[in-house]
Amino acid sequence: MDHYFEANRQGWNLRTEAHKSSAFYNVEGWKKGATSLNEIELREVGDVSGKKLLHLQCHFGQDTLSWARLGARVTGCDLSDNAIDYARQLARESRIKARFIRCNVYDLPQHLKGKFDVVFASYGVVGWLPDLDAWAAVVAHFVKKGGFFYLAEFHPVVWMLDEKMEFIKYAYHNAGVIESEQTGTYADRHAGIEYTEYGWNHSLSEVINCLLRHGFQLEFLNEYPYSPYDCFDKTVRGSDGNYRIQGLEDKIPMVYSLKAIKKG
Ligand SMILES: C[S@@+](CC[C@H](N)C(=O)[O-])C[C@H]1O[C@@H](n2cnc3c(N)ncnc32)[C@H](O)[C@@H]1O
Repeated sequence: MDHYFEANRQGWNLRTEAHKSSAFYNVEGWKKGATSLNEIELREVGDVSGKKLLHLQCHFGQDTLSWARLGARVTGCDLSDNAIDYARQLARESRIKARFIRCNVYDLPQHLKGKFDVVFASYGVVGWLPDLDAWAAVVAHFVKKGGFFYLAEFHPVVWMLDEKMEFIKYAYHNAGVIESEQTGTYADRHAGIEYTEYGWNHSLSEVINCLLRHGFQLEFLNEYPYSPYDCFDKTVRGSDGNYRIQGLEDKIPMVYSLKAIKKG
């Protein structure tokens, strides 16, 4: 398994360098005060003011720091060295108090103490995790009783499609590791980077049942027929500003979100 994580760490280090200057991440706009969070999670997570918030797989911390601007006391964790270095730099430059930890999410209990009101993860996270039961144990470890875990994620139906979004290529359920050769990155298709990455598809039932097994109660599960991000091939932008796959507009779910409360 370490081989997969190591390859993904290297891939995410390369991606991060391309992401820093990408229009997709719009760091300059963010530095001027724009939030990087989307309407879905802003509405569904609600008021975070004064809350202790842990962001798992935080990439370079834009979302983590956006929650801090809304009053949360934030900690972020990510596998990528470059992502965490840049997250710390952004926090320093923007004078936002935040703590960032570089480690595999599975190892986080060895690096971080304490419980959190909110544990948050979003868009492109569970697909890097081979073992969701072990992941749910980590999530449960950090959410305090009565607190909640919130996840907004690309829908597993989208990950069934081939890279050109034309036909069903991959299994809906986890059928083992998927190896893929990448050039560029979703935030900049023309970035001059090449790497091999490893991912896993996880069905909705797998995600939810893992959380239920680890002491959570589901408050809601929502499914959206659009993505707030333009990160797939063949997208069209709707009048609502969101993205859909051409020819599949409003026919498939593209994002889901859930809130799970830690039972007292
Ligand atoms: C798609 S990004 C997260 C997206 C985030 N919403 C954003 O765009 O800023 C996925 C992140 O997961 C991290 N990651 C992948 N595997 C991980 C692991 N095993 N432990 C911790 N972080 C991991 C990557 O380094 C990357 O920063």
